[in-house]
Amino acid sequence: MSWKNPWKQNPWFESVAVAQERARKRLPKPVYAALLAGSERGQTIADNQQAFADLGLAPHVAGHHDKRELSTTVLGQEIGFPVIISPTGVQAVHPDGEVAVARAAAARGTVMGLSNFASKSVEEVVEANAATFFQMYWTGDRDVMIRRMRRAHAAGAKALIATLDWSFSMGRDWGSPEIPEKVDLSAMLRFAPQVMSRGRWLAAYARSGGIPDLTAPNLAPIADDGSLGEPPTFFGAYYEWMTTPPPSWDDVAWMVRTWKELSADASGAGKPFMLKGVCRVDDALRSVDAGVDAISVSNHGGNNLDGTPATIRVLPPIATAVGDQIEVLLDGGVRRGSDVAKALALGARAVMVGRAYLWGLGANGQAGVENVLDILRNGLDSAVLGMGKASIHELTPADLVIPDGFELALGHRAAD
Ligand SMILES: Cc1cc2nc3c(=O)[nH]c(=O)nc-3n(C[C@H](O)[C@H](O)[C@H](O)COP(=O)(O)O)c2cc1C
Repeated sequence: MSWKNPWKQNPWFESVAVAQERARKRLPKPVYAALLAGSERGQTIADNQQAFADLGLAPHVAGHHDKRELSTTVLGQEIGFPVIISPTGVQAVHPDGEVAVARAAAARGTVMGLSNFASKSVEEVVEANAATFFQMYWTGDRDVMIRRMRRAHAAGAKALIATLDWSFSMGRDWGSPEIPEKVDLSAMLRFAPQVMSRGRWLAAYARSGGIPDLTAPNLAPIADDGSLGEPPTFFGAYYEWMTTPPPSWDDVAWMVRTWKELSADASGAGKPFMLKGVCRVDDALRSVDAGVDAISVSNHGGNNLDGTPATIRVLPPIATAVGDQIEVLLDGGVRRGSDVAKALALGARAVMVGRAYLWGLGANGQAGVENVLDILRNGLDSAVLGMGKASIHELTPADLVIPDGFELALGHRAAD
């Protein structure tokens, strides 16, 4: 009989919380802290998760369905279950970075959202997952933005996500990690104690040729002939962003129009556009007016303006106000399949996840992201089963226990 070490760590984890704990142990402290993020006193990041916990479920005891429909579509892409990858500027978590995430999403039949601050190019990521949505911030002038949109379209991105909620609020009560601009000798020496204690993380990078400088390949300058210049450093890219005057609603409408024109097919139909970062009913209605196809009700995972309520609290009135004019997604605080069920019951078509998959990536690369997606899918399936539904499309607020005062209608616009 062969003897197996019962204490050997199983690479598979059973919940997102376990993935987070594995990532915390495996990643160098500054890398883990960069994923943890949150801003100011951490009110928003905490509320994003607390609000899901405040909601209960109202299950049935019998009459369950032996087959449950979990699939849906988001912006024309068929997905096996209503969870897609939210774009994150993942830097130095894993050598394969967003390519590993994109492969995991493809393996689990869902969409990859790629940040313009990502460490891998849109071309590589689309190759790993054809169902990739490219995310842009409002950075650079219009000509620069048009070139970046053209590049994403030419690479095969299926939709554009514009994230416009960022307000450059810096500082956390628990301290922000130091991120080196260039991984040169002096940075290596400074970070050595934190990095050397993370052998498996370091070994993965050593195998892939060492720790790269932090650059943003999707923000590289694009010449008239389409050729790419040197990608800016992460900090150079951030500076361009900080010094770009913020967009107006006319700019949003311009962005939608421009993307649709440059991605138009023979029939004249352009590719879809999502506005990420909507928290208010009036902004949701303005988004409809600006011509977007979808919004994500999002507070940037609590990394931005602290004091913004949890997205799940502001979702229901937004979903009611826009009806079926556009698709409504939600991101922020999703850690369990039952959280996905709650968001759908309150009007989301699908959710986007950020930290959940980052923990999986940090803990175990592509397999870790697949593991997290499986946890979310299986947890959703259990919730749909328990609530006696044959399909995610049957979930309604009546399936939930909603405390008084839970929903918040921000910027409610009286009928006009
Ligand atoms: C480390 C980190 C980096 C992020 N970078 C981006 C980004 O580049 N673009 C973007 O639109 N959102 C970014 N986000 C926000 C996520 O897309 C998403 O809105 C958020 O993570 C959702 O909350 P959750 O982490 O609780 O799932 C980032 C979030 C984190 C945690």
